[in-house]
Amino acid sequence: MLAILYENALTAQRSALNPLYESIKACSMSQSPTLNRRIILNARPQGAPTTSDFRIENGPVPVPEVGQVLLRTLYLSLDPYMRGRMSDGPSYAAPVAVGDVMVGATVSRVEASHNSGFTVGDLVLAYTGWQEYALSDGADLTKLAPAMAHPSYALGVLGMPGFTAYMGLLDIGAPKAGETVVVAAATGAVGSVVGQIAKLKGCRIVGIAGGADKCRSAVQDLGFDACVDHRSPNLAALLTAACPKGIDVYFESVGGKVFEAVLPLLNSAARVPVCGLIAHYNETTLPEGPDRSALLMGTLLTKRIRMQGFIIFDDYGPRFPEFVKDMSQWVKDGNIKTQEDFVDGLENAPLAFIGLLEGKNFGKLIVRVASD
Ligand SMILES: NC(=O)c1ccc[n+]([C@@H]2O[C@H](COP(=O)([O-])OP(=O)(O)OC[C@H]3O[C@@H](n4cnc5c(N)ncnc54)[C@H](OP(=O)(O)O)[C@@H]3O)[C@@H](O)[C@H]2O)c1
Repeated sequence: MLAILYENALTAQRSALNPLYESIKACSMSQSPTLNRRIILNARPQGAPTTSDFRIENGPVPVPEVGQVLLRTLYLSLDPYMRGRMSDGPSYAAPVAVGDVMVGATVSRVEASHNSGFTVGDLVLAYTGWQEYALSDGADLTKLAPAMAHPSYALGVLGMPGFTAYMGLLDIGAPKAGETVVVAAATGAVGSVVGQIAKLKGCRIVGIAGGADKCRSAVQDLGFDACVDHRSPNLAALLTAACPKGIDVYFESVGGKVFEAVLPLLNSAARVPVCGLIAHYNETTLPEGPDRSALLMGTLLTKRIRMQGFIIFDDYGPRFPEFVKDMSQWVKDGNIKTQEDFVDGLENAPLAFIGLLEGKNFGKLIVRVASD
């Protein structure tokens, strides 16, 4: 059963009401680690991040106090939004301070517990960042079902990226059977799910991805009707040929020349969920060139196009259970397939993250920090 359990807040509250039990509960350790490796933000990147923007630090494994658990990171999610956290420009979220541990979602195992809501061996979804061990009071943890076949899915298809695909496509994109849906970064964590949900809704699905291998996989493995390579000099012509009836929904994750190829093909009343702009994340200033805003505004106006940005948990947080229910079923039934790109070892997280911003990942990028 892939469903994620939502009992953590209640159990944490119950444990807080039982200090006597807390004080006598033995803290049992499944092993006795001594070293906690952590990846620190060493400097704010200028343009594309480099390995010198990170440093690795060794510290002691923290010791849980009453009410706390010690977590060991099994899987660390690497996501494009982390590039934004490395900068201190205006954003919807606070930056990581230079000298702090890089932020990130993890699937972690409870190694020691002084919190009656958790027992040693529990698997949890946490937000403890790029480090091997961390403490938590339990309030920010979500327990995963013990029998969850693939705990790492909680970081991908059954987690934030899958939720982003689900809400952005269904709530803003509102695809109807027979329509053409185009999705950029088509084999990535979000894009691969967008395409497969749109297929379930009876749409024609066209992906845009970097390179022949990714395009082949989008069609053969994920069931896309077509996929075009954004590295091709003929991108606009290839996309036009793949969308003979124009584009009704464009799920935007990239921007730049990909959006330029999409814009002329948008149909009247098209919907454009703006999920991300990864082609621009390393830019420090707006791109130079002719002002194309009149073309964009004119197209939106005359074609009555709806273009809407969203930040997944800010805008849709309360709908997470609805997503988990649907997506768990789709995954279980084999209607949604997922590709995971595993990198072994915390020390390899910086290079893997740099690669994510260059399109080197093939599917949901996850660092395997320790074995489960
Ligand atoms: N709004 C939200 O709440 C929210 C939540 C989650 C994610 N997002 C956004 O969704 C997008 C996808 O995230 P993800 O986690 O699914 O990542 P992902 O697709 O697994 O990985 C990123 C992919 O972006 C593509 N890419 C990178 N640089 C590019 C460039 N210059 N031009 C074209 N494509 C480029 C690459 O794929 P190719 O090799 O195929 O080009 C790369 O593999 C990102 O923009 C992210 O910021 C937004």
